[in-house]
Amino acid sequence: MTQDELKKAVGWAALEYVKPGTIVGVGTGSTASHFIDALATMKGQIEGTVSSSEASTAKLKSYGIPVFDCNEVDSLDIYVDGADEINHQMQMIKGGGAALTREKIIAGVAKTFICIVDESKQVDVLGKFPLPVEVIPMARSYVARELVKLGGLPEYRENVVTDNGNVILDVHNLTILNPIELENKINSIPGVVTVGLFANRGANVVLMGTAEGVKTIK
Ligand code: 5RP
Repeated sequence: MTQDELKKAVGWAALEYVKPGTIVGVGTGSTASHFIDALATMKGQIEGTVSSSEASTAKLKSYGIPVFDCNEVDSLDIYVDGADEINHQMQMIKGGGAALTREKIIAGVAKTFICIVDESKQVDVLGKFPLPVEVIPMARSYVARELVKLGGLPEYRENVVTDNGNVILDVHNLTILNPIELENKINSIPGVVTVGLFANRGANVVLMGTAEGVKTIK
């Protein structure tokens, strides 16, 4: 199976967790995009969605699926999204698609985070995938210097402006042995909006696409 076929398999498998009458948190990226295709088959049964990016919002709306402002919603039953890396503790690196801040907000609102990934995303130690950090534009150089002090090699993601009007630094050269500590440290640098480490709030359920089928990890 190709990587995209594995992504499609988990995107559709997540449909099993969608309860009729609820509002569903929807992630961003190619795997989440398969989930949106699947969700469209249930669009008459759900109340609507909260979306983590303008791209996902556009796709949801193209299917006629209602999209609510996050401020209109007190709680969400589930949030379904992909990841760039996930470890055995269900902590993740996210933000390859630059949507990390809205993703982290919706993950915080949701009771259950369902992470949908193909097996290439599973790692023992996070950090091989460059860690995305969303930064206020005027703080870019300062934050980059602070990230170097933490042992990282930050690289400015050229020609990318996030949905929130900010920039992204991708931090290379990290071996993240204590993800919660690093998440807290990077989040405390002035000018950082969000770091793409999802360690304090990891996933609750992982649906992993493998050659043998979709594995559920809880
Ligand atoms: C976007 C994300 C995505 O979930 C992550 O980049 C994985 O993307 P894909 O499903 O395309 O492999 O965090 O900001």
